[in-house]
Amino acid sequence: MRARRPLMNRPRRLRQSEAFRNLQRETRIDPTKLIYPVFVTEGSGVEQSHKDVPGIKTLSLDKLTPALKNLYSLGVQSCLIFGVSDKRDEEGSEAVNPESVVAKAISEIREKIPEMIVATDVALDPYTSHGHDGIYRNGEVLNDETVEQLVNMSLVHAQAGAQLIAPSDMMDGRVAAIRQALDDEGYEKASILAYTAKYASAFYGPFRDTLSVELEGDKKSYQMDPANRREAIRELELDISESSDIVMVKPATHYLDVISDFAERSSVPVAAYHVSGEAAMIELGAKAGLFDRERAIVESTTSIFRAGADIVATYFAEELAKAFN
Ligand code: PBG
Repeated sequence: MRARRPLMNRPRRLRQSEAFRNLQRETRIDPTKLIYPVFVTEGSGVEQSHKDVPGIKTLSLDKLTPALKNLYSLGVQSCLIFGVSDKRDEEGSEAVNPESVVAKAISEIREKIPEMIVATDVALDPYTSHGHDGIYRNGEVLNDETVEQLVNMSLVHAQAGAQLIAPSDMMDGRVAAIRQALDDEGYEKASILAYTAKYASAFYGPFRDTLSVELEGDKKSYQMDPANRREAIRELELDISESSDIVMVKPATHYLDVISDFAERSSVPVAAYHVSGEAAMIELGAKAGLFDRERAIVESTTSIFRAGADIVATYFAEELAKAFN
């Protein structure tokens, strides 16, 4: 061998043992930074898991609080509630029913697990006959009429005790309208987590199965084009100026560049939603024996945090909490 200068820079020194790797690890998952999305439905004794993604659970009220208590004891302190209902009509009236199963679920969780943060998804799609997130007429989702309905929906949730209102509809101006209504009605402590950059993604499939949505057409006239990165900055600036407390990017693993942009520019915490189809890819790949399930879950979630997310909404909250407790 020819004489070489000594190799002074050996990055492998810090990888030589588990202790060294722990010492230089830059990103570590903290269960208190996770939000668990969960689906509630009428009746009792209902405990259903999605066939491909077991973390997507549809529970009746009696099963909901025990499940969330268990998660809370593992360190997951936030949940995101969705309603599953067969009460569907053109206007999504069930969304603003103060007696809806979601309203009941909110009060029940607040009463039984007072320390837990209850976030609620605000959009009309679980309750509309056409499956759109808003009021749909002549093939169009109407912006301002929808915002009115979302404001009412947010007030119902706040009244039931929700501390975090999460509009997922992508209508223009909804954050400001919801903030103003919450303040006018005395809910100034209710926070807003806006789905700020929500893309018209193919990866919402298992979620839509769970809600049995039969969507007329697509959501491309309100959700963002997956091809766009700069446009997300415009949405970020708008949502912050409209006083959103947290901003979210969705989906997550396919949009790490957008998460990274948000992390750099946002003055409020950045959340990311690891959506149902992203979870399904991990489940089905692991089931096919292509890779190890737990490692894939940890790696994907770590990547979302590494890109700059402060908070991650994930169906794998329980697995992650167990792995990082
Ligand atoms: C609807 C909503 C969707 C999701 C969260 N809220 C689906 C959609 O926009 O069609 C997707 C979540 C997931 O796929 O896990 N407002």
